[in-house]
Amino acid sequence: MDFTVDSATPAVQASFDATPDSRLRDVLQSLTRHLHGVVREVEPTISEWNRAIEFLTAVGKACTETRQEFILLSDVLGVSMLVETINGQDVGTESTVLGPFHMTESPVRALGDSIDEVGGSRVCVVSGTVRSTSGRPLAGSTVDVWQCDENGFYDVQVPDVQPAGNGRGLFSTDELGRYWFRTVVPSHYPIPTDGPVGALLNATGRHPYRPAHVHFIASAAGHEEVTTHAFVAGSPYTDSDAVFAVKEGLLVDFVETDDAELGAHYGVEVPFIHAAFDIELAETA
Ligand SMILES: [Fe+2]
Repeated sequence: MDFTVDSATPAVQASFDATPDSRLRDVLQSLTRHLHGVVREVEPTISEWNRAIEFLTAVGKACTETRQEFILLSDVLGVSMLVETINGQDVGTESTVLGPFHMTESPVRALGDSIDEVGGSRVCVVSGTVRSTSGRPLAGSTVDVWQCDENGFYDVQVPDVQPAGNGRGLFSTDELGRYWFRTVVPSHYPIPTDGPVGALLNATGRHPYRPAHVHFIASAAGHEEVTTHAFVAGSPYTDSDAVFAVKEGLLVDFVETDDAELGAHYGVEVPFIHAAFDIELAETA
């Protein structure tokens, strides 16, 4: 059969009919239907299609051990949040994007340790309890955190300024399901704009900023793992996150306190900034 605009899609879909893995077959046939649909709708010129190939090539070439431009592309197109939201638990703490900066393993730290190895200007304590959605505290659950510094940079972006592992920590909750650590209040920051994704934002008049946040992955035996953020309430860009990750329930007050008893409890001098962020995990079926 001659290849025509109309025959193209069923012909390519049929070419995948014998794929042994049925899930892979379904994905490729759906991809074919939608990708062809875009091409039929947009009718790109040959040079425009070449430009698209060049763009994706540049995205690949921008990836290194410490930079993930494809995650960034997925993020700014809202695909990361769509996948997270489809896969997120129906109850308990809402999930958000992993983001492009979870590239290195967080160093194992003890409860109360500081993840700020550089020495920021204001001490911040982040604390909370990991519970099952039934309300039961989850002792020994894992809380992986990572964040940028007060200037908006992650360790992997400025290795001359921050030691590897700065702003990161892997904690295990105590017998009451509690975690706490010292840090600095993260800044809002622009996602990297010196690559092809930055060029895309620039060409479309979109800003590259994300509101200030601390990333979390919480996991416990017998429960769903949750990838999420604690967003600094009141931070710029909470209404226009470049990667669409903000959810109302994840806005957390980072408040200055001069509560000496609380400071003594956490081993810090007053005044300090305190942020309370509890996490609820759904039991796995
Ligand atoms: Fe981030």
